[in-house]
Parts: sequence; structure tokens; C-alpha cells
Amino acid sequence: MNDLINIAIDGPAGAGKSTIAKLIAKRLGIIYIDTGAMYRAVAFKCLNRNVSLDARDAILHLLRNTDIRIQFEYNEQKLFLDGENISDNIRSDDVSNAASCIAKLPEVRNKLVDIQRDIAGERSVVMDGRDIGTYVLPNADVKIFLTASINERAKRRHREYVALNSKKTLEDVIEEIKRRDYNDSTRQFAPLKIAEDAVLVDSSGKDIDQVVEEILGIIDNRLSID
Ligand code: CDP
Repeated sequence: MNDLINIAIDGPAGAGKSTIAKLIAKRLGIIYIDTGAMYRAVAFKCLNRNVSLDARDAILHLLRNTDIRIQFEYNEQKLFLDGENISDNIRSDDVSNAASCIAKLPEVRNKLVDIQRDIAGERSVVMDGRDIGTYVLPNADVKIFLTASINERAKRRHREYVALNSKKTLEDVIEEIKRRDYNDSTRQFAPLKIAEDAVLVDSSGKDIDQVVEEILGIIDNRLSID
């Protein structure tokens, strides 16, 4: 018996998972784990080393020689790739798209899922990703599937890209998100899908505070039933 709390928040790109999950973790006084950052880190290394995203063997070789570690500074996740803090270098659209390609490989997923399960086995967490409720933490205390309309998700992501000086149009971002949704939900191993016992939350037309309160209500409800 342990009294750790594990909260899983899954959903497609641009639904607001990381913003919302971070705020929920803060309100609950527990840590937030961004699993997407781990897939981004592997993708970042492939791009930096000019390893083609189709070159399975080369990616697996690189993976065997890759050290991924998470540390917390003031409860904020920092991601170390081979000893270097790359948390601020993995948010570009190139890395997003590459992450979605390498995330198909079971060997990549197994390595990262082991790290994720280890952390959740030791600390109470809010963990966000694509497969947390379905695969990484099937016994999570609360599972949320956070989504929003494709237009709203693309608009949010477009605003983030503009802030990063990207010249992409909203139409480009819509296409990119559709492609990523397709990749993530059709891959064979641990695809993006709603866990049977997850609660669906649609963030379309809601502001951040509304979504945070809605999810905190669901968590409260679930935890008081058990
Ligand atoms: O922030 P955003 O939702 O755009 O992406 P992310 O959570 O940083 O994840 C980037 C990519 O990593 C996703 O498109 C997925 O392909 C992959 N990913 C995954 O397969 N499983 C996870 N648990 C988290 C991310």
C-alpha cells in the first residue's frame, strides 16, 4: 500500500495539456512530468546528428548511447540529454514533427516509459502525454483526456510559433497538427486513444482557469470516491 497519487492527462497536440497539467500539479502540491519532452529530446538528438527519421537501426543505435534524465528545480521539470539541460531547445516545429516520427518505435517508447514509471512509482505526479492512462500508468488514480477542436488547437499552437518567430501560417499549422494526430493515433504500439476509465474534457471555448477548475473538480470527486 502506498499513498502516492498518479494523475494521467492525455490528449492531442495543442489541447492545452502542459499548461493545464502544470497548474494542476501546482495546486495539488505535486510534480508535473511532461513525457512529450522526452520524445522531443530523442528527436532533437536525431536532428542534431543528421540521423534520418526513417533510419530505424541508426535511431536505435543512437538511443542505446543516449542518456535521458529528469531533474526538478523548484518543482519544475528540467530535461537533461547526455548531461546537458536542453529543456529550452526542444519546442520548435521541426522537433515536434520529428518527435511524432520517432515515437512510433517501440524501443524508443520502452526506454522512455521505464523512466516515466520509475518516477511515478516514487512520487505523486501529474503526468501528461498520449499513452499515460492507457499504457504508462494504467492504474492511475484519475485519468483525463483533454481535447479541443482542431481549429482551436491550431490557433493556440500558431500563437506559440509566432512567439518563436516562425513564419508558418495557420493553415500550415492545421495541416501539421492533423498529420501529428494521425501519426499518434494510428501507430501500432501505445497509440493516442481515450482510456476506458478516462474523463473527457473539451477545452474549446474555455479559458485556462475554467479548465483547471473543471479538472480539479473531477480529481476531487474521483479521489473522494476511492
Ligand atoms: O506539446 P504537444 O502536445 O504538441 O507535444 P508533446 O506532448 O510535447 O509530444 C510531442 C510528440 O511526442 C507527440 O506528437 C507524440 O508523437 C510523442 N509523444 C508520445 O508518443 N507519447 C507521449 N506520452 C508523449 C509524447
